Amino acid sequence: MAHNHFHPDSYPAHVRGEVPHYDELEDAVADATEALTAARILDLGAGTGETAQRVLAKHPGARIVLVDASAEMLGAAREALSRDRIEQIVVRRLEDPLPDGPFDLVVSALAIHHLESADKRLLFRRIGEVLAGGGRFVFADVFVPDDPALAKTPVSSSLDRPDRLDDQLSWLREAGLEPHVVWSNGDLAVVTSDRPAQ
Ligand SMILES: C[S@@+](CC[C@H](N)C(=O)[O-])C[C@H]1O[C@@H](n2cnc3c(N)ncnc32)[C@H](O)[C@@H]1O
Repeated sequence: MAHNHFHPDSYPAHVRGEVPHYDELEDAVADATEALTAARILDLGAGTGETAQRVLAKHPGARIVLVDASAEMLGAAREALSRDRIEQIVVRRLEDPLPDGPFDLVVSALAIHHLESADKRLLFRRIGEVLAGGGRFVFADVFVPDDPALAKTPVSSSLDRPDRLDDQLSWLREAGLEPHVVWSNGDLAVVTSDRPAQ
């Protein structure tokens, strides 16, 4: 995901150039939310709203809160989504506190790898706190693969900070969640993490 500044006009072609399985990955995120009935959804690193559109299509009664550090990317998401499906648009870094929960679903695609390891770990803890009991976190990202030959997604040493999948699964468990890998392709994976019902 080597890009020093995501721009909404160039992003769709850029991401599909770097991640040839982008649409499959986004569909896998949305499919992984289907088991739940969601009324309130949080999208972290929402970008132009590609994930949000797919997830909202699976949850006709739901409204979404979009978070991203880039006001430009969120501007494109605002245009792409129906106004009545957006609860709030928040220009904020994922290193900072999350919007108030509870959320039935938290989703994130290709964004968390931008965070340092300690910030990923803290983010997972915060996600565990804003998820409703019985809620689900679904995230897709690029990981450092065990086999270096699988490291196909372009990463920039200054902007991208992928970690090993196993490490992130253990940080999710630390956050009180129950993670499962539901899709993978090379150095990309989609992980669901359920918060037990209370
Ligand atoms: C590769 S794009 C993914 C966008 C969207 N989730 C998708 O799947 O198409 C990464 C997004 O993460 C945002 N981002 C990068 N670092 C961030 C950070 N530290 N906090 C919040 N957003 C960040 C960027 O602005 C960008 O919109």
